[in-house]
Amino acid sequence: MNAIKLKEYIARVTHGAKLIVVSNREPCMHENAGGAIKAVRPASGMVTALEPIVRAVGGTWVAHGSGSADRAVVDSCNRIRLPEERPEYVLRRVWLSRKEEDGYYYGLSNEALWPLCHIVYMRPQFSRSDWEIYKNVNQRFCDAVLEEAEGNPSIIFIQDYHLALLPRLLRNSRPDLKIMQFWHIPWPNREAFRIFPWGEELLDGLLGNDILGFHIQYHCNNFLDTVDRGIEARVDYERFQVFRGGRPTIVRPFPISVDFEQIAADAKSSLVTARKKRLLKAFGEATSKTRLFVGADRIDYTKGIPERLRAFSLMLQRHPELHGKVTLVQLAAPSRTHIETYRNLNDELDDLVDEINWKHMSEDWAPVRLMRAHHDYYDVLAAHRLADVLLVTSLHDGMNLVAKEFIAARSDNDGVLLLSQYTGAAREFTDAVMVNPFDPDQLADALYDAYIMPETERTQRMRRMRPLLAKNTIYNWGAKFFETLECLPTCEKNVSSF
Ligand code: F6P
Repeated sequence: MNAIKLKEYIARVTHGAKLIVVSNREPCMHENAGGAIKAVRPASGMVTALEPIVRAVGGTWVAHGSGSADRAVVDSCNRIRLPEERPEYVLRRVWLSRKEEDGYYYGLSNEALWPLCHIVYMRPQFSRSDWEIYKNVNQRFCDAVLEEAEGNPSIIFIQDYHLALLPRLLRNSRPDLKIMQFWHIPWPNREAFRIFPWGEELLDGLLGNDILGFHIQYHCNNFLDTVDRGIEARVDYERFQVFRGGRPTIVRPFPISVDFEQIAADAKSSLVTARKKRLLKAFGEATSKTRLFVGADRIDYTKGIPERLRAFSLMLQRHPELHGKVTLVQLAAPSRTHIETYRNLNDELDDLVDEINWKHMSEDWAPVRLMRAHHDYYDVLAAHRLADVLLVTSLHDGMNLVAKEFIAARSDNDGVLLLSQYTGAAREFTDAVMVNPFDPDQLADALYDAYIMPETERTQRMRRMRPLLAKNTIYNWGAKFFETLECLPTCEKNVSSF
């Protein structure tokens, strides 16, 4: 499956219905930068995955306009055609006040649902006023989607946990809409979910979908179990469906992916070659002569960044012969910094890097380089190509697309992927060096194993992983959603009394 085939396939099965994608994060933010307006692609796995599909298929993407210059570039209907140089789809921006952003995005979405769904021992914070704002903002998105649908047959494809109430709101207004949603983060077990104070309303919102997708079967099972105990509905464990209000919601795993061919081609381009040179210069001369351990993440406590730094330090302590021969370069995109836990994590990283460098450094070598900035797509690809070892040490993650980006970028069949066993990607790539990021000793040993892995083994592992990824690209993911949508009329025959 590729972009062209997906476009043809979707045109065939949607019978002229309009496609409307909805997410909190927009695919392109316009920022004021020194008197000019700059288009920025946000650091988001969701955007990396969805953008190629929307570009291929066309349609409208409804999202929060969060860039400082976003209002300056839209038309009177708050729309802009993207990409600006060769438009392929429409972005419709939804404006939120500071108070709405605080309650809905920072509060309910990222201080309550994010830690609730990622079991990393970070206590969720619940606030009734955040919940009220979350409900209102979901209604605002509903109004915008209905406006964009203009009463026509439409397929609404909702992304993520920011918009859990949207499916029911849409269903109540337009029962004829086809609605599907993909939950990009894990779904916790029912005991963990039980503490969420507005659980029934949230589940009812999600059961407004025709299709609800998670990355892996385990998250689907957790969801079905949560529904079974948490709300009046009939769960059909044989067909993975839930019946509520006379309609089924199909609950299935859809492991998300990347545009394999595009990344492979871009990673070999002259632009990425130039970026490699630029990055090496930024790392410093001594670093460029060492073997590189690379991390590329948003600064988020789920990503296990302090854990990898500590393990790297432990490896250096156990193997003094590596001093001056290895460097850990961490590309770190600032994220959600209005939340205290994220600010604390930033401080912790500064302290840790300082401590580790002070402990092991020599006159012309420092073991860790923390590159805190928004790094664009080409910089990340350049870092992937430079990496001897890519570190993906998340404490818990739905998929962790950076692992797939790395595999796609390594058309040279080199580079070791060190991968947390608590990521969705770990289910697919057993040839990665698997780690438990909570275990510092095992992680340090794994880093060393990755360092000493012979070239032939590195190549064999990469050669096995790349075809697996090539068979399951983001276009296959998109097609699978629409295939499932096609079987809906038959599924609807199973309407139950709930
Ligand atoms: O994949 C989960 C997710 O929350 C996406 O929805 C989001 O775009 C990405 O992580 C980055 O987070 P944020 O949009 O909050 O910067």
